[in-house]
Amino acid sequence: MYEMKDDLCGILLTEDQIESLVKKVASEIDRDYDGSGRDLLLLCILKGSVVFMGDLMKKLKRPAEIDFMKVSSYSGTETRGKVDIILDLHRSSLHNTDIIIVEDIVDSGNTLNYLTGYLRLKGAESVRCATLLDKPSRRKVNFTPDYTGMVIPDHFVVGYGLDYNEKYRNLPYIGILKPEIYLEAHN
Ligand code: IMP
Ligand code: MG
Repeated sequence: MYEMKDDLCGILLTEDQIESLVKKVASEIDRDYDGSGRDLLLLCILKGSVVFMGDLMKKLKRPAEIDFMKVSSYSGTETRGKVDIILDLHRSSLHNTDIIIVEDIVDSGNTLNYLTGYLRLKGAESVRCATLLDKPSRRKVNFTPDYTGMVIPDHFVVGYGLDYNEKYRNLPYIGILKPEIYLEAHN
């Protein structure tokens, strides 16, 4: 039987390793927003962040609202630079609301750089970002996430929500995709 793991050349993070990174991020958020007196909104960026969001929200001790946006900047393994909003955040007011954007991975930084500006303009009290993974070596704009599970080298990774052309999101751990899988598709 063909399995998704046949397309990987290595495992970057096991399920246990991911769990401890999620716990670390949740405890940093609990510490930082303790006694804020404002509403905390966890804003999941679809679709890649959906698994991280589900785990992160369960690990927080403080109350948090959740919502979703969908943006698109990617095709295959390369970012297009321009960010399109496919599903917007519809709230009558963001007054008294601290937003944490929940992302799977920061790469060029275009998506989060754009979104943080956009949400500030919409009137949020504050906008921060929590990402499970960060690939700073690929940055094209100056952007540093506020909460990071782990900084990783420049590999194309899949699983735990992360995809290549919509595949592999349902792997429970994070693997490194064999380069021939995406190089073949480019030839
Ligand atoms: P950025 O706008 O270039 O920072 O792109 C961020 C988005 O690109 C992430 O939310 C992912 O959807 C996608 N992305 C970046 N690197 C990877 C990767 O290694 N695997 C899967 N998706 C990735
Ligand atoms: Mg994404």
